[in-house]
Amino acid sequence: DHESKKQLIKDNIQSYPDFPKPGIIFRDIFSILHKPDLFSVLRELLTATAKSFKVKPDVIVGLDSRGFLFGTIVALDLHLPFVPIRKKGKLPGPVITTTYTLEYGTSTFEISTDSIEEGKNVLIIDDLLGTGGTLEAACHLITVLGGNTTGCLLVMELTELNGRSKLTCPVKSLVQY
Ligand code: PRP
Ligand code: MG
Repeated sequence: DHESKKQLIKDNIQSYPDFPKPGIIFRDIFSILHKPDLFSVLRELLTATAKSFKVKPDVIVGLDSRGFLFGTIVALDLHLPFVPIRKKGKLPGPVITTTYTLEYGTSTFEISTDSIEEGKNVLIIDDLLGTGGTLEAACHLITVLGGNTTGCLLVMELTELNGRSKLTCPVKSLVQY
């Protein structure tokens, strides 16, 4: 069942204490991608969870860079358009921009202005929910374009950072720490 599959994924996400700095435990999602059998299980869980949101998405948005690994496979499985939100300076053509706070310093996200039509329902996919600053920035860009963020889907969630409190849409994560 899904609960035992989620536990299997959690058991196989390798943890690196004191990376990238002392006191932080880095959860390495690439340890799943190294093993095709595990990646297949993760894909099945992600797609099933994407289908479980109350409001059905018209578009999947993936976040640069690790969100691309999962957003694209779900978009293919649901046969929906995939739209990237990218770090500054990577997208051609007209874009809108927002700057957000990370643990150290800031980062800037961009989305193409013509990538989401007004009124479309959007499911955002990323690898990890930490402070929630990244997802909050992504939601902001989608709102500016006139889209509705109807859900956020993450592989991992660091619950003690309470990133959900920054978000107003339904949030689902497969594995919690
Ligand atoms: C990481 C992770 C999430 C974000 C979560 O991305 O992939 O996108 O941080 O953090 P938050 O909830 O505290 O905002 P990062 O900016 O390190 O870059 P990457 O995806 O390009 O590796
Ligand atoms: Mg990221």
